[in-house]
Amino acid sequence: MLWFGLIAVVFLPVKFVFCKIMSKRILVTSALPYANGPIHLGHLAGAYLPADLYVRYKRLTGQEVLFICGSDEHGVPITIAADKEGVSPQVIVDRYHTMNKKVFEEFGISFDYFGRTSSAIHREVSQEIFLNLHKKGIFRQKRDQQFFDAGANMFLADRYIKGTCPVCGYAEAYGDQCEKCGTSLSPSELINPVSTLSGEPPELRETEHWYIPLGDFQDKISAWLDTRTGWKPNVMGQCKSWLNAGLGDRAVTRDLSWGVPVPLEDAAGKVLYVWFDAPIGYISATKEWAAQTGNPEDWKLYWMDEETDLIHFIGKDNIVFHCIMFPATLMAHGDYVLPVNVPANEFLNLEGRKLSTSRGWAVWLHEYLQDFQSDHLRYALGATMPETKDSDFSWKDFQARVNNELADIFGNFIFRTLSFTTNYFDGHIPGLVNPSAEDQAMLDEIAQTRDQVAGLYDTFHFREALAQTMNLARSGNRYFTSMEPWHSRKSNMEKCGNTLHVCLQVAGALSVLFEPVLPSACKKLRSDLGINGLVFWSMAEADLMKSGSSINAGEILFRKLDDELIDKQIKKLLMTDQAAAAQTETPAYPALAPSIDFSSFAGLDIRAGRILKAAPVKGSKKLLDLKVDIGVEIRRIISGIAGYHKAEDVVGQKVCVVANLMPKKIMGIESNGMILMAESADKVLHFVSTDAEPGSTVT
Ligand code: 2FM
Ligand code: ZN
Repeated sequence: MLWFGLIAVVFLPVKFVFCKIMSKRILVTSALPYANGPIHLGHLAGAYLPADLYVRYKRLTGQEVLFICGSDEHGVPITIAADKEGVSPQVIVDRYHTMNKKVFEEFGISFDYFGRTSSAIHREVSQEIFLNLHKKGIFRQKRDQQFFDAGANMFLADRYIKGTCPVCGYAEAYGDQCEKCGTSLSPSELINPVSTLSGEPPELRETEHWYIPLGDFQDKISAWLDTRTGWKPNVMGQCKSWLNAGLGDRAVTRDLSWGVPVPLEDAAGKVLYVWFDAPIGYISATKEWAAQTGNPEDWKLYWMDEETDLIHFIGKDNIVFHCIMFPATLMAHGDYVLPVNVPANEFLNLEGRKLSTSRGWAVWLHEYLQDFQSDHLRYALGATMPETKDSDFSWKDFQARVNNELADIFGNFIFRTLSFTTNYFDGHIPGLVNPSAEDQAMLDEIAQTRDQVAGLYDTFHFREALAQTMNLARSGNRYFTSMEPWHSRKSNMEKCGNTLHVCLQVAGALSVLFEPVLPSACKKLRSDLGINGLVFWSMAEADLMKSGSSINAGEILFRKLDDELIDKQIKKLLMTDQAAAAQTETPAYPALAPSIDFSSFAGLDIRAGRILKAAPVKGSKKLLDLKVDIGVEIRRIISGIAGYHKAEDVVGQKVCVVANLMPKKIMGIESNGMILMAESADKVLHFVSTDAEPGSTVT
């Protein structure tokens, strides 16, 4: 922050002032979460906790950092949530924006500003950027066929189309992805697509959209990526594979009623594609932040000054948007800085399974807070976050992190140091007199750890940063134990004083070095240690704690979590999952019909037959007009199979025909019989065929 930076310059030692002048301004963003549901721990581990660790660390070093986020309030995820509840999208985004903002605060995610993409400024900024590119002739306008639901009178986004997956046969696959086998799809690939709004097969209609020709930016993006250093291999690898595949045109508009309207006269009913406007939310939120601080022009310091380091924290599913599409937009506009790094995380699994919000296989942050403290999860997730590959969160591991590391190592070290000082030194920090080699080694380890951990934070190695910080507490415990102050206090008070002096320096340093991950515990610890005022990373040195000043024994920093509480969480997860399974898993086949007596069955005359001719029935998408040889005669049968079988494909097909049904008029044509069909679980009709000659009876 600006004021923060200034204070740092005025009061810090010379060495620090030098660093400050040399440093750049940093703008950190976390992916804007969709405001269509609450935040779970996968979100936290992906884009929010790592960003917060980085930001808190950078602030401690005195750098000017601005941390921006907000709610992504447009796009199909929002309208689907609204449709499900039968409310307007505004109701949904208002609810989850408020809820998510609060839970981030409760978890200590220290955004400077948390905006929302339904704001007026966001609309203005997004439209300005769109128009800027439009006026430069960047976009291509193209007409294309898209699925349309005539009943609902709207074009269908991919998520609004369901059908059978061509890869695994799952009947409920979406137009953009099959959630069963994970294949990415386009709606036209689905077998028997239907609109999720009406359940009817959609029709194709022509519509016009604006496309950004990413291919025109391919060389520029490629050259720009080549200048990026320190990127995670997984992020750069994904970018390279997109580039190798060749970039094409990407639509930046949609036919939808919810979103930022396309600011052109001939674009009624069209909005900006959510992935065009959402990243612009970083800019608009920065503008709103600046207006709020009373210096409305300050947003330019972050977006229009090459001295700014822009860093996007995201999950891996957002890489292409942040590393290719948004940079292409920014390049085309020309006024804005591009990211220096995009340290995307991989995915977090839960108890060995992929997180699934629809199955309830998730831990919601607001529910977590009913039983636990935010610092516990920050540490446990920080220590296992999916930095380079997918990782797993389990409640047992969480318990072990809290009990064996936070409580047994860090908490125990603090407790024994503070209680010993209170009990035997009247709560005053003893002086250091003729330190031994062991004392000096322990003191030296403080600055060594600080510098090593700084390097890890600077390069986005947060797991290792936490591990090394915990190692300092581990060393502190080892040192305390090996120095045996409980003996020296009886025989050598000077040695005992030195031991406690050194331990208190380690405790003071830990209250700074653990600050990025454990802000609540460190605040309390510093209060017990008598460390007041602003905190800086550079304070983690061997002389932070002044001899003679007083400390408080305080309360235990971390209480252990008992098995009962942890088992309760596991049980809750399993129960939610089972309930969701029972609700969502519709039985594959209908229940058996009530029994009938034999004479009812014997009354049916079913014959083997062969289709001789077939033609579509005019005005119907479902019916075929068939001529069927049933041995004793040729029958005209109108059959509702056109949705599954084309007329030209069924000629010659062997079938079973219910031959003694009363004739029935269908679309004005008399149908004389019925072709037997089997309906599979995915709602596809298959012929019931026989090798017997036409006329053979089926009994
Ligand atoms: O994947 C998501 O949750 C998106 N809402 C992220 C948007 S990030 C940015 F572009 F705003
Ligand atoms: Zn599939």
